[in-house]
Amino acid sequence: MSAPSNQPFCASSIIGTGSYMPEKILTNDDLSKIVDTNDEWITSRTGIKERRIAAADQATSDLASEAARRAMAEAGVTAEEIQLIIVATVTPDMFFPSTACFVQKKIGATNAVCFDISAACSGFLYALQVARHFINTGNRTTALVIGAEKLSSLINWQDRNTCVLFGDGAGAVVIRRVEESDAQGRVLSTVMGSDGTLADLLKVPGGASACPITKDNVVSRPNTIHMEGRETFKHAVTRMLEAAQQALEMAGLKAEDVSLVIPHQANARIISAIADRLNLPLERVFMNLDKYGNTSAATIPVALDEANKAGRLKRGDVILLVAFGGGFTWASSVVRW
Ligand SMILES: CC(C)(COP(=O)(O)OP(=O)(O)OC[C@H]1O[C@@H](n2cnc3c(N)ncnc32)[C@H](O)[C@@H]1OP(=O)(O)O)[C@@H](O)C(=O)NCCC(=O)NCCS
Repeated sequence: MSAPSNQPFCASSIIGTGSYMPEKILTNDDLSKIVDTNDEWITSRTGIKERRIAAADQATSDLASEAARRAMAEAGVTAEEIQLIIVATVTPDMFFPSTACFVQKKIGATNAVCFDISAACSGFLYALQVARHFINTGNRTTALVIGAEKLSSLINWQDRNTCVLFGDGAGAVVIRRVEESDAQGRVLSTVMGSDGTLADLLKVPGGASACPITKDNVVSRPNTIHMEGRETFKHAVTRMLEAAQQALEMAGLKAEDVSLVIPHQANARIISAIADRLNLPLERVFMNLDKYGNTSAATIPVALDEANKAGRLKRGDVILLVAFGGGFTWASSVVRW
């Protein structure tokens, strides 16, 4: 929607990126000592070689706060300037208070309004769009948008179907209101979608109000990730492709205009299928899932930060972000760097 003609042009720009990955590395070979799996199976089916595991005394807000500090340092923004903190996560520190409130306390962002968003692996792009609404309507000028997960706290280490896929980490961006249409890092478009009829295909069924943990059900581990892998795979390819095409169309661009795709990092085969259907060579697709596995809401901001620090984002480049996750949920954004 365009702004009324008597209002100044107003948009949201990413002015800093940051990420934090825990030190401990868990390799495929390490996992093969815990469950009946091997490096060859995991690598060929997923592209993942290793993942990071947070320390016992690190909560999601600790990972998120460090990523946030790094993004603020790059943006040259102080904690007092942050007016909004949104954390996308499915592994909050606690049911409440929100992880965003813990981040606020840890970084000293005393002027911020803080809340979490639950949209699984699409969470970061959902949060980016919510923050954009606050900024573009003039309500706030500077926001921290964070994707952070300690998925190791939701993994059943006896289930080889899921335990090989996930890891811990956090990524953050600072976004700020800009009044120039050619401002660096401007978010040009975002599309989002959800289909709750498919909620059962990827979920953590227990540990909340529908199925509290009791001494009788705790042995069946309902408070861990349950996934129908093949079905999830098919929907991920279809929805991410559609979302990417819609976001490009909304920005008035075509796939060939894209300099770099930063997709949700769940499976290298999903990413290759999308690149193939967009007719983009893999050199124009960013992948770091070999190092980190699927860190849910954190994958896109972490990858964005790594691409940024590696000099792979040039001024004026068209960057396509696209995600898919439990819900099912999906989203895509186009950013002009
Ligand atoms: C999970 C996934 C990697 C499995 O790959 P797949 O090719 O679909 O494999 P299948 O589930 O068909 O399993 C094939 C066989 O490998 C076995 N297998 C599963 N995990 C294994 C592992 N870690 N090591 C060795 N064998 C394994 C299965 O038991 C099955 O054996 P069977 O044929 O004897 O029953 C894949 O379906 C996937 O990535 N899905 C999407 C996941 C995703 O993106 N989730 C997050 C979305 S945000």
